[in-house]
Amino acid sequence: MASKLFATKPIPTILSEAAEQHEHSLKRALGPINLVTLGIGAIIGAGIFVLTGVAAAQFAGPAIVISFIIAGIGCVFAGLCYAEFASMLPIAGSAYTYGYATMGELVAWIIGWALVLEYAFGAATVAVGWSGFVNSLLGYFGIRLPFNPTPALTLSLFGHTIAAKVDIFALAALIVITIVLVVGVRESANFNSAAVMIKVSVVLIFIALAVMFATGHWSQMLPNWHPFIPKNQGHFGQFGWSGIMRGAGVVFFAYIGFDAVSTAAQEARNPQKDMPFGILGSLVVCTVLYILVSGLLTGLLNYTQLNVAAPVADGVKVIGKGWAVVLVDLGAIAGLASVMLVMMLGQSRVLYTMAHDGLLWKWVGRIHPRFRTPYLTSIVVGAFAAFLAAFLPIKLLGELVSLGTLLAFTIVCLGVWVMRVRHPEMARPFRTPLVPLVPICGMVVSLALMLSLDAPAWIGFGSWLIFGLIIYFSYSRKHSVVRQRLEASAATVRK
Ligand code: ALA
Repeated sequence: MASKLFATKPIPTILSEAAEQHEHSLKRALGPINLVTLGIGAIIGAGIFVLTGVAAAQFAGPAIVISFIIAGIGCVFAGLCYAEFASMLPIAGSAYTYGYATMGELVAWIIGWALVLEYAFGAATVAVGWSGFVNSLLGYFGIRLPFNPTPALTLSLFGHTIAAKVDIFALAALIVITIVLVVGVRESANFNSAAVMIKVSVVLIFIALAVMFATGHWSQMLPNWHPFIPKNQGHFGQFGWSGIMRGAGVVFFAYIGFDAVSTAAQEARNPQKDMPFGILGSLVVCTVLYILVSGLLTGLLNYTQLNVAAPVADGVKVIGKGWAVVLVDLGAIAGLASVMLVMMLGQSRVLYTMAHDGLLWKWVGRIHPRFRTPYLTSIVVGAFAAFLAAFLPIKLLGELVSLGTLLAFTIVCLGVWVMRVRHPEMARPFRTPLVPLVPICGMVVSLALMLSLDAPAWIGFGSWLIFGLIIYFSYSRKHSVVRQRLEASAATVRK
């Protein structure tokens, strides 16, 4: 049956037709520079500003630099695969659409569901990081708020203890971002451009100050880099090489976002040319910055001191320039806001596409008559993300996001390869080099990073997938528009 359906009409054609029918619904407002800025806007965020510290302190030590390199290499492989797909199928929906085109509905559903995890939980993770920098800034001016964040309750999950809290700032941030998204994408893109400029400047200023400090204080920094790879503590993931791998799984979060560029394909003015430029351009810039920041941060402070809410700000305190501490706090606050925005934007677009394909309820894809945004889904997901951010710790949220995204990456890499075999005739404005080597490397690195992550994250991820499959089998299967088209198309051929 399936092979007969594939033979009637290539699935990408059916998907493109579906996209064409609805493309008037979203505005085509974004050019190539907008897309790179959108990418950097999504990429640089809580990963580098917060999780670097958590991962160095708990898993990798100064060798967090190697973790960043491993995660970065995996992203380049996945990015090359994303770029081929994004240039072939400029449809909002990102990896979900690619999975649909190559491996069918169930795989597409799983990716879409993993992407919901990536974006909604990702926005929540960043909101918690954002809140840490707000506290750091207030703390600098001597203001301490007793309620934020307050360890409120301790959850026990299969022998693992998770300290939950009530984070009012993170909650408030996501409510504001949701309102911005409901009002419209053009306004959001402008806000994003300003925030990207600020946070890239702050990262560059941090690098410049740390390098200048290093030239006069080598003797102070060198001991912090020694031992570069702290000895394993007897358990997988606690320092040593397994710690570097777990660190890579955690800081992988820092690279998430370049795929969000592909979710804006329907809003790009020239998707064929600009999407690969947007994805790969933003990835390369961020990789270089991360290696520099993590290397310098672990020199400024011993890794054991980095398990804090705002590690980069603490690093700047060592340099002893008060204005720079305030600047880093402000830059992180603006920068992380832009990440939350892009994640929530990607989120609403994925759900919008899934609703159009009939896999989710119609209201999910409903467009606001005046603002032309999928407002209902933005509001529901915004409320969900705000709830998560208010109660869950950043490390657990970050690891869940990494798992969801790595699963989507693995399927995208496989999809590029499958597509080359099934539809070699399709035009590919951007071709992934060395197929199948690059997709295979992308899959191997992604799976290795997934396996390096911790048990609570796997438990949360498994529960999320089961919940998604219940929705799929109880609703989506029966209402799929693409399935109905395929069946109609197959019936025509049989006649
Ligand atoms: N890469 C994004 C961040 O680090 C998600 O915040």
